[in-house]
Amino acid sequence: MTTATARFLMCRPDHFAVDYAINPWMNPESWARDSKILVNASRREWAALHRTLAGIGAAIELVPSAPHLPDLVFTANAAVVLDRKAVLARFRYPERRGEEEPFESGFRALQGRGLIDTVAKLPGDLVLEGAGDCVWDRTRNAFWMGYGPRSDRDAVSPIKEIFGVDAIPLELADARFYHLDTALCPLSRGEIMFVPAAFTPAGLAEIHARVAPGDRIEVPLEDACHLAANAVCVGDTVVTSYCGGRLHRRLAARGYQVKVTPLPSFLRSGGGAFCLTLRLDWQSHVGAVEGNAAVA
Ligand code: ARG
Repeated sequence: MTTATARFLMCRPDHFAVDYAINPWMNPESWARDSKILVNASRREWAALHRTLAGIGAAIELVPSAPHLPDLVFTANAAVVLDRKAVLARFRYPERRGEEEPFESGFRALQGRGLIDTVAKLPGDLVLEGAGDCVWDRTRNAFWMGYGPRSDRDAVSPIKEIFGVDAIPLELADARFYHLDTALCPLSRGEIMFVPAAFTPAGLAEIHARVAPGDRIEVPLEDACHLAANAVCVGDTVVTSYCGGRLHRRLAARGYQVKVTPLPSFLRSGGGAFCLTLRLDWQSHVGAVEGNAAVA
C-alpha cells in the first residue's frame, strides 16, 4: 500500500455550464452558442486534471454532482479545511447558495468515513467562499484571506478562532481576480506566486511584509489572465492550466516541475486547476511561527 501525497475533493462536471454571470469571465450567451462542444470539452479537461493529480500520487474523493448547480464543480469553494475540521462556505450570490446543502452532505459523508472530524458553519450570516478566499500557507502556518468581491473581511476572526492559526486579510482590487485563489498561490518551499495587479496597495504591502523578496514570484499579467496562478502545488509539482515561458523558467529554477493541464472551458466560468480541487489533508503545525525556532 502506498500513502497518498495529498487528498483532494473534486466533483465531476456532469452539470457544468455557464448559465449565469457572476464574474467577468462568464458569458452565458457565448457558452450557449457552442454548449454541446464545450460540455464535452469540459469533461475531457476535467478528466485530464483528475488523471494528472492521481498521477502524482494524490487521492481524490468525489462529491456527487447535481443538476442546476453548474458551479458545484468548483470544490475549492465548498469549505475551508484544516486539521480535519471543515468550515462550510456561505456564498455571496443566490446563484451559488444552492450548493451549500450538497457540499454539507458531502462533508457529512467524509466525516462518516473518518476523513474529517468536525463540520462547522460560520457564525451569523458571514460570507466566505471556502478555500477560494482562504488559502492555506503551510510555510507560514497561516491562511491568506481574500475579501471584497465575494467574501467578508469579518470572516477573518472566526477563522482564526476556529482553527487557532493566523489569518492574513488581503483586499482584492480587480474584478477578474474575484477570489484570492485566482491571484495567489503558496508553493511548497515557501515561495508565493501572486498577481500584483489583483491587490490594493495595502494588500500588496502585506504580501511584501510577510514574504521575503527572493520568495516572491510575480505572475505576469498574460499568465494571470489565463488563471496560471490558480495552481495546485503538491511537493515539487505545480499543476496549472497555463504557464508562459518566463513563469515556467522561474518555477523550474526553483526546482518545481510544472504540469500544464489546459482547462479552457472552465476558464469561461472563471475557474482553473485550484478551483476544481479542495485539499482535505492540510495540517497546521505548532511552534513553527516564522522566525521562531521550532520546538522539535
Ligand atoms: N463561476 C464560479 C464563480 O464565479 C467560478 C468559481 C471559481 N472558484 C474559485 N475558487 N476561484 O463563483
